[in-house]
Amino acid sequence: MNPTRNNPQFSIARRRVLPALVAVAVALAFAVPAHAQQKVKVGLMLPYTGTYAQLGVAITNGFKLAIEENGGKVAGREIEYVTLDDESDPAKAADNANRIVNRDKVDVLVGTVHSGVQAGMVKIARETGVLHIIPNAGLDAATGPLCAPNIFRTSFANGQTSYPMGKVLAERGVKNVVTLTWKYAAGDESVAGFKDAFTKGGGKIVKEMTLPFPNVEFQPLLTEIAALKPDAVYVFFAGGGAAKFLKDYQAAGLKGKIPLYGSGFLTDGILEAAGDAAADIETTLHYGDAIDTARNKAFRAAYAKAYKIDPDVYAVQGYDAGLLFVAGMNAVKGDIANKKGMIAAMEKAQIDSPRGKWTMSSAHNPVQDMYLRKVSGKENKVTGVAVKALDYPPADRCKMGG
Ligand code: BEZ
Repeated sequence: MNPTRNNPQFSIARRRVLPALVAVAVALAFAVPAHAQQKVKVGLMLPYTGTYAQLGVAITNGFKLAIEENGGKVAGREIEYVTLDDESDPAKAADNANRIVNRDKVDVLVGTVHSGVQAGMVKIARETGVLHIIPNAGLDAATGPLCAPNIFRTSFANGQTSYPMGKVLAERGVKNVVTLTWKYAAGDESVAGFKDAFTKGGGKIVKEMTLPFPNVEFQPLLTEIAALKPDAVYVFFAGGGAAKFLKDYQAAGLKGKIPLYGSGFLTDGILEAAGDAAADIETTLHYGDAIDTARNKAFRAAYAKAYKIDPDVYAVQGYDAGLLFVAGMNAVKGDIANKKGMIAAMEKAQIDSPRGKWTMSSAHNPVQDMYLRKVSGKENKVTGVAVKALDYPPADRCKMGG
């Protein structure tokens, strides 16, 4: 016989304590962690004015669409957006990034478009350790010598989009090319990537021409190209400046006479503005409007419905930045303070993108197919894959955490 069991005082205590213990256990089981009730602050530092304004808007739209398709939340947490117009001005970049990280206290810093501004953002991301997703700027160093565990890119490295064009032209037996670009990191690195593949394949660069960003006084340069009579011209321009360049090339009488090529930024998002000046232009890029997959068609339909405009490569990159963020947040159940867990999940993520599925290189840059495209009507039609699963410049230049 158990003396304690038969003790009436014990029975009363048991009757009182047990329900209380059950209540505590139930409460613990359904407890909502403190972070779940707080909004996640997403900082969008992008150009909303100037030549690249349209690119910044497309990235913003794409990011927000990915979140909307996820129920408007990430891992159950609501989102608060903090937007900042970086004006594509490198001189203001570090101060702007510092303000949005340290004053506005964003949880994740998304941006930007312009490689010069990107350099300032990378500096602040490295100093503060804030989670940083680059949805366009191709600054090679960001996923090269300046790579860091907290810095990810969902777009491309500048040379990655131009190397395939150099390869294609060399394979076609094109010999003498003039290059022309805005003089800043994106243009320099774009031309370097083109030149790498083109000269390896036997081609020669007869002249490298530049003008300051965002200058659009192309006329004297076009006169010089006409006099040089190269076999072809390779250019890096984007946004409003690209549309103006295509029109000027046609007006100078060069269209159809000296074939013009570029990385796909030359013709992306500007086909309405460029009109028939863009007709038949071939470029290389990691996206094409008319990619014939259910995934791309569903994305294009959803984007057009939400924003009453067709998406372009910038919208896709913003969308993929949203998908990457959702993948990281889901893995840590919304606990963004668990940076190690987020980073590990983002490194492993396979992004089911409208461009096709892609993964992160060890330098946190997409390893992706590079398409050859040709403008047909109001679309960049994919005519082939110029290079499959391209990792360029090679990820081994990045010493993570170094
Ligand atoms: C850049 O500055 O990295 C860039 C800008 C527009 C299109 C592509 C690259």
